[in-house]
Amino acid sequence: MGRGLYYFALAMGESKKAQLTIDGSSYELPIIRGTENEVAVDISRLRNTAGVITMDPGYGNTGSCSSAITFIDGERGILRYRGVPIEDLAEHSTFLEAAWLLMEGELPTQEELDTFKDHITYHTMVHEDVKRFYAGFPHNAHPMAVTGAVVGALSTFYPDSMQVTNDREMEIAIHRLIAKVPTIVAYSYKHSMGQPFMSPLNKLRYAANFLHMMFATPAEEYEVDPVVARTMDLIFLLHADHEQNCSASTVRMVGSSQANLFSAISAGVHALWGPLHGGANQAVVEMLEQILASGDDGKQFLDKVKNKRAGTRLMGFGHRVYKNFDPRATILKRACFEVLERLGVSTPLLDIAVQLEEIALRDDYFIARKLYPNVDFYSGIILQALGVPVNMFTTLFTIGRLPGWIAHWTEMIHDPQNRIARPRQIYTGARERPYVPMEQR
Ligand code: CMC
Repeated sequence: MGRGLYYFALAMGESKKAQLTIDGSSYELPIIRGTENEVAVDISRLRNTAGVITMDPGYGNTGSCSSAITFIDGERGILRYRGVPIEDLAEHSTFLEAAWLLMEGELPTQEELDTFKDHITYHTMVHEDVKRFYAGFPHNAHPMAVTGAVVGALSTFYPDSMQVTNDREMEIAIHRLIAKVPTIVAYSYKHSMGQPFMSPLNKLRYAANFLHMMFATPAEEYEVDPVVARTMDLIFLLHADHEQNCSASTVRMVGSSQANLFSAISAGVHALWGPLHGGANQAVVEMLEQILASGDDGKQFLDKVKNKRAGTRLMGFGHRVYKNFDPRATILKRACFEVLERLGVSTPLLDIAVQLEEIALRDDYFIARKLYPNVDFYSGIILQALGVPVNMFTTLFTIGRLPGWIAHWTEMIHDPQNRIARPRQIYTGARERPYVPMEQR
């Protein structure tokens, strides 16, 4: 392969092949079509045949795998888990049922669901030695840092759950994770508050049990409010999967090296933490609080966003995939009004959020860039109304996203096409040059 200029031309006919011309030479590339008619040009043999690679920073045009888990049509605002619309699941299902659907591919029978719930309930406690880790973390440590670390440390406790190709071992590891992550998250909160850890109470349902571990203390009775529990369950369900997002891709990437499941999930937790990903729910509330404190009605803030002053963004707006609306945001906006009313909570942050949304949706800057509210725009306001401290928001997203990560990891491990994830690069550094001894520099 020479170093000269290349001229690329890609033509995609009605046939099952695309024609790529580089510097006068032609290459045929297979075309892959998904069940919803998305089209991909398969370039997996391009470097071998043509000696070139493709470049796609941020992977906006790159399919890393075929997947049968979640379908998103960002132009039409569609999200489906295993074909089932998110709106139907939000109305009729529960988080654990949706988790089963994502991981197993079908809605469970009553018997399957009952057995699954039993297994999850059975594994909710953590080893007593796990609790000792918390003492080593500063009280002001971010709960996402603690959660990621403790999830990773689970691999030290379960040497019997390391063989990624052993389905039975992995089933136990998966149940352990889904059962224990709420306990781990709740303990990160208790540690930050200096309060005793509360044992899980296995007569409670999944979300209610989590709320109990978060908010109960040994000093007094704690009744889980059913409205709060149902809302928490809905929030978990709406976050349960979102196909090849940053954290799911991280889980797949780490897992592709056949690292154990706990390590791969721990990496997913850390990827989720970033403010451009799961950390946005915390960033939204902090942004609304700043606007409130400054006495602005939102207009000055939006001017700053549009002028891109100091990289200011309207947090909770915009999405790599949704260029119309995010269906999860629509469900959460409605839930936000309902829950606040039923709990008798009023917050000026909701007024500011509604005002910002109204102005932004009519503004050319946001219209031209197809920026709409995403899942994080209203979720933080709900969580605050439920009494969840702001720095815990992303840990709740973690609990919700866990079944999605697991579904992707399992799909990846069983995919016969799976290879270690190892992207290429175009090197732009110095050409070969001699080593210069220290005294000559
Ligand atoms: N506020 C202001 N401008 C924005 C925003 C925003 N929230 N989002 C994108 N833009 C602008 C951006 O400046 C760029 O403008 P220009 O074309 O003039 O350079 C254009 O829109 C395209 O943005 P991008 O950064 O290339 O888009 P992306 O697909 O790489 O980023 C995103 C997607 C979600 C990271 C981004 O929209 C963003 O930063 N949003 C705010 C953070 C947020 O709410 N994240 C949660 C995402 S949903 C849950 C999750 O994934 O975890």
